[in-house]
Amino acid sequence: MEGGSKRLVVVSNRLPVALSNEGGRWVIKPGGGGLVTALAPVLKNRGGLWIGWSGAKGEVDIVDPLAEFSREAGYSLHPVYLTEEEVAGYYHGFSNEVIWPLFHDFQSRCNFNPTYWRSYLDANLKFAEVVVRFSRDSDYIWVHDYHLMHLAFMLRNMGVPRSCGFFLHIPFPPPDIFLKLPWRAKIVRSLLEYDLVGFQTGRDRSNFISCLRALLPEASISGRGNEVRVTLLGRTSRLGAFPISIDFNAFANMASSGEVAQKTKDFRDALRQRKILLGVDRLDYTKGIPQRIEAIRQMLFKFPDLRERFSFVQLAVPSREEIPEYNALKIEIERLVGEVNGQFAQPGWVPIQYLYRSLPREDLVAYYRAADIALVTPLRDGMNLVAKEYCASNVSETGVLILSEFAGAAGQLQKNGAKLVNPHDVEGVAKVIHKAFHTDIADHRRNMHRLRDSIRKADIFWWVDSFLQNAFSRHLNDFPPLEGVNFHS
Ligand code: ADP
Ligand code: F6P
Repeated sequence: MEGGSKRLVVVSNRLPVALSNEGGRWVIKPGGGGLVTALAPVLKNRGGLWIGWSGAKGEVDIVDPLAEFSREAGYSLHPVYLTEEEVAGYYHGFSNEVIWPLFHDFQSRCNFNPTYWRSYLDANLKFAEVVVRFSRDSDYIWVHDYHLMHLAFMLRNMGVPRSCGFFLHIPFPPPDIFLKLPWRAKIVRSLLEYDLVGFQTGRDRSNFISCLRALLPEASISGRGNEVRVTLLGRTSRLGAFPISIDFNAFANMASSGEVAQKTKDFRDALRQRKILLGVDRLDYTKGIPQRIEAIRQMLFKFPDLRERFSFVQLAVPSREEIPEYNALKIEIERLVGEVNGQFAQPGWVPIQYLYRSLPREDLVAYYRAADIALVTPLRDGMNLVAKEYCASNVSETGVLILSEFAGAAGQLQKNGAKLVNPHDVEGVAKVIHKAFHTDIADHRRNMHRLRDSIRKADIFWWVDSFLQNAFSRHLNDFPPLEGVNFHS
């Protein structure tokens, strides 16, 4: 693998793995979350590198399990070790108690603690040091998400030349929100250290440009479309919008498999062939789960004809459990589920089935395939891959996608047949669900067919290609799959 060839180096807060200690032994499994689901199939067998945190605190001995994972994945994994204090200050603190709520329009949930900021800078430096150690001058460094907005700045400060692109998986907020951030100008300036900054939607990019104009009026901005250029102090970087996607064929093929067909039938039988409404999310306050449950309650009040005719299945994957707000949300959801079930359940029927766990991919896809209606109603979301995964897996093409207008996916999917809703308007959501029950199946088929077509055309490989082309004038084919290579770290 070593030699002159140019490699793609992905850097993200997390490695694409989940680490657990089983009886004193570290065990590594594939990780979850939108970023990992999207990128893992692209990097597979291309001989690149993925640099990130393993999720453990302190320096744990995971060299062997990581090397084994690297061999199977076909790219090398290099860990960044974070101390307990760094996890608290940089990850839980600055990333998830400042940037995450602020960028999702939850400014009142922000904790602008100055020690978090210092920890963020230190951790970005640490990541940069690992990048310097394992990458070569000729590599392309592709940095992901809000945890690492300062990484290119650190590399330049260290005098290390690298081609660096950055993609923000979450929304970028408008100036009236972003300008509340005490470190606003520093963040904008350091993002401009990347050669290309990619956003999910045109709206995110224009929010960034408005903030840039307000904070750094000396920057000169020119061009349009994916050609917007910003020049500051003699350095030019570019800004683009690249809506992330999924490995459409992988989901569609899995959904068509015999194993998933059997699981789908089992789920439907267990739910007595009632209509299935489905919600799938990380348990996060941006996902609008309590509001969705309220919409179900409203529906049961207003439309008694629907009682006992459906099951609403909510799958929630545990997330950021050490942050008190996430635990409070878990308790709130459990309370709401109990309340609604207590109010409306009948012998042989409970309206809400709630599963709080991560599921194997086959089970998730079987739920997608079984669901008649997907309720994807985040209060704010960068893109939302669940919406796309549901459509890809809906191989019968009879499903309905009810989608929040505040998900990044809304722009692309509305014009192709998704039903858009305001997730705060619980009565409005209830009405849209009711209407879907009474709409001709031919309409559903037409819409789902168009939705699937649009996602198939703009899949994850298309997305990576557009980013690489804009960032590095490279195509995905410039990093061809390798065979028979031993990927030792
Ligand atoms: P985010 O990146 O904020 O978590 P996305 O919707 O973009 O949101 O991505 C969520 C990812 O997590 C999807 O790829 C989805 O398949 C996965 N996921 C969500 N819930 C579960 C679950 N219960 N079990 C397994 N995977 C899940
Ligand atoms: O997509 C947003 C994101 O923050 C990713 O960067 C991340 O991998 C995923 O959600 C899951 O969050 P976390 O890594 O904090 O568990």
